[in-house]
Amino acid sequence: MREELKGIFASVFGEKEGLRFFFAPGRVNLIGEHTDYNGGHVFPCALTMGTYAAVALRNDGLVRMYSDNFKDKGIKECSLDDIRYQKEDDWANYPKGVIYEFQQRGCSIPHGFDIVFLGNIPNGAGLSSSASIELLMGVVLQSYFHPEMDALELVKMAQHAENDFIGVNCGIMDQFAIGMGKKHHAMLLNCDTLDYEYSKLDVSGLALVIANTNKKRTLADSSYNARRQECHDALLDLQKALDIVSLGDIKPSDFDAHSSLIQNETNRRRAKHAVYENHRAIKTARMFKENNVDEIGRLMKESHLSLKDDYEVTCPELDELVFAAWDHEGVIGSRMTGAGFGGCTISIVKDAFVDDFIQKVGDRYQQKTGLKADFYAADIGEGARELKGE
Ligand code: GLA
Repeated sequence: MREELKGIFASVFGEKEGLRFFFAPGRVNLIGEHTDYNGGHVFPCALTMGTYAAVALRNDGLVRMYSDNFKDKGIKECSLDDIRYQKEDDWANYPKGVIYEFQQRGCSIPHGFDIVFLGNIPNGAGLSSSASIELLMGVVLQSYFHPEMDALELVKMAQHAENDFIGVNCGIMDQFAIGMGKKHHAMLLNCDTLDYEYSKLDVSGLALVIANTNKKRTLADSSYNARRQECHDALLDLQKALDIVSLGDIKPSDFDAHSSLIQNETNRRRAKHAVYENHRAIKTARMFKENNVDEIGRLMKESHLSLKDDYEVTCPELDELVFAAWDHEGVIGSRMTGAGFGGCTISIVKDAFVDDFIQKVGDRYQQKTGLKADFYAADIGEGARELKGE
């Protein structure tokens, strides 16, 4: 990868001494969907696929950025004195948002730089290519100028950049998984306290397989924000009788006893998902420790059905892909992953059946939807970092 990056860098910006190399992964969430902004738990992991960067400092205050994934967009250029969102900057607004965030916090950036990005996460597939580029920019700025900063600070800054600079009101899961990822481990994160625990995924004989619906995500941002609002309104109703600060504070049984406080039927279903899904995420992490694969499969199924019927963030393509997986003899569990409305599913498949799974599930999906799914092995890797000798 270094050689490839070096070559691209030289052809775009010319040969430079002292290039440094960086990497930030994508992420996949095993369970705990739409719980992060509800103060609940998530159980994601960082992937070995992600975004790479090669960087050289400049002597002036100019930042020049180029992504080999968006060749037609050319070089994006801005001055450190004038970092602001510009629609025509497209993908480059993500790294710009992180630069802006550093500056807002009074963390000086004394030099401009030339940077080349190269990623192997499919765009728009819900594997967090945007959070990947944010954390990558964060690690670059940290490594050159602010080594005192810790990973958690970068995570929070990246989320803030996405919320305020980009204007997408996401929770903290993606940035956290990408900043704090650990090889072969998922992490159970309490999104309210940010306490977390790594969980080794050594279920021998089983593989994690990501399947991409290749369905273009439509209306994802506006529906995402609408779900947040519905959950918030449900919380306000519950707070009339319960001393809670988020939906993550209630157990399913307490929710059932008080759900009639929620006036609106839709909001009640949204809240039910958030409460039960939080509980499923905690339970799934425990089941991994106990190697209880049957229970893990059952929880994944419940999660998908809840996202489909109560939270309503699946789509016919995601459902088809998951139903086909459930019917396959080698499958332990399968569900949609990420925000939904398109994007990917995650399945746990017995090693010996992976090829057959890809073949049969892919065929059935294509027959039903006319779309071709892509499949990737989900290798679990380390979080965002400088590549020193790697
Ligand atoms: C997107 C958001 C996350 C999270 C998931 C749903 O990936 O960026 O914060 O809310 O959707 O679990």
